[in-house]
Amino acid sequence: MTKQIAIFASGSGSNAEKIAEYLTNIPDVETTLILSNNPKAGVIDRARRLHIPVLLFDRTTFYESNQVTRLLQAQKIDLIVLAGFMWLMPSELVQAFPDRIVNIHPALLPKFGGKGMYGHFVHEAVVAAGETESGITIHYVNEHYDEGQIIFQASCPVAPTDSPEDVARHVQKLEHEHYPRIVAELVAAM
Ligand code: GRF
Repeated sequence: MTKQIAIFASGSGSNAEKIAEYLTNIPDVETTLILSNNPKAGVIDRARRLHIPVLLFDRTTFYESNQVTRLLQAQKIDLIVLAGFMWLMPSELVQAFPDRIVNIHPALLPKFGGKGMYGHFVHEAVVAAGETESGITIHYVNEHYDEGQIIFQASCPVAPTDSPEDVARHVQKLEHEHYPRIVAELVAAM
């Protein structure tokens, strides 16, 4: 049976693209759908280039109906991958896909996580705190931002002269190196 993946993204979509490209080389795994809450998200063009269907939804559909959950169930989605998706997952969706929703956070959780801690805000906080390392955390998703069980972490050094942009670059390199592989491993274990 082919395993079906759905990817949620709100922004540029570089991780979504890396994951979808990586999975094209894995037999019996398919990126079935890319979903976004942002009609201007860069991920939409990347999905089109990869010929992956895109579903856009608004806040009312996502939080006041279970249309998205029902669609994912109808598509027999095996694993939901969040890659720069900014909204909290509704509890009915989390409960419909227990331990089948994963996210990547651009820092070493539990530090520098939680509501409002995303993108450059994370890297600015890491530099401001004088941290000597940062990294990525891949974790299961529950009803709270960045609190699900940790699946994988990788770290990179932060030099005293590093700017938040330098840290962001080092962290993105780790994301693109590890997230596709970890997703493939999770699917293989299903
Ligand atoms: C990544 O840094 C990821 O860790 C975070 O959101 C960012 C998404 O980047 N959750 P992109 O849209 O995949 O380039």
